[in-house]
Amino acid sequence: MSAIDSLLERLYTSGLSHDAGDHERWNRCLNITPETGQFLDILVRETKPTRILELGTSNGYSTIWLARAAKSVGATIDTVDMLPSKTEAARQNLAEAGLLDVVTLHTATVDEFLASFDDQSADFIFLDSDRGQYVTWWPELLRVLKFGTLVVDNASSHPEEVAELRELIRERRNLDAVVLPIGKGELVVRMR
Ligand SMILES: C[S@@+](CC[C@H](N)C(=O)[O-])C[C@H]1O[C@@H](n2cnc3c(N)ncnc32)[C@H](O)[C@@H]1O
Repeated sequence: MSAIDSLLERLYTSGLSHDAGDHERWNRCLNITPETGQFLDILVRETKPTRILELGTSNGYSTIWLARAAKSVGATIDTVDMLPSKTEAARQNLAEAGLLDVVTLHTATVDEFLASFDDQSADFIFLDSDRGQYVTWWPELLRVLKFGTLVVDNASSHPEEVAELRELIRERRNLDAVVLPIGKGELVVRMR
C-alpha cells in the first residue's frame, strides 16, 4: 500500500469517528466514500482534464483523491471551502500527501470563488458542498465549465435535495447525465 493510500485510509476512518460525535453540520468532515474517491481517480485519468475545480474541500480527503490523479495527467486543482479551519486541515493533509504543488486552496464562499473564474476556464468540476445552493450556483457553474465533466455527490443519499438541479440539467440539450450507484450516488454530467 502506498503512503497516500495509507493516509487516505487513516483520514477516512478518523473522519467517520469524528462525524459520529456531536458537531455542527459544517464542522463534520462529511467525506466522500473510498469508492467515490476511486471513481474520481479513474474518471480524471480517463478524461484528462487540465483544470479541475472542487467545491467543498473539507479536510482535503476528496482533494487528495483528485490531486493524485490530476498530477498524473498534468492537471491542476482549485478547491474552495468557506471555513478557514477546514482549508488549513486540507493544507496539512495535502502536504503530507506531497500533492500541494498541484492544488490551490481557497478560503471563500462558492459564490466568491466561482465569480473569480473566467468563462469556460475549467473542464472538470466536483460539486460536494451546500446542496441547498446548487440551483443558485448553476448559472455560474455553466459559465465556468468548458466542454467537460461535472460530478455531483449525494445524488442517491439526498435525491430530493438535488432534484431541482437534475431538472435544470435535463432541460439542456447539450448535457448528458447519469446517476451511478457508487458511494452516496454520483451524478455525472458531460457537456458536449
Ligand atoms: C460535504 S463537505 C465536503 C467534503 C469533501 N468533498 C470530502 O469528500 O472530503 C462540504 C463542505 O462545503 C463547505 N461549504 C458549505 N457551504 C459552503 C459555501 N457556501 N461556500 C463554500 N464552502 C461551503 C463546508 O464547510 C464543508 O466543508
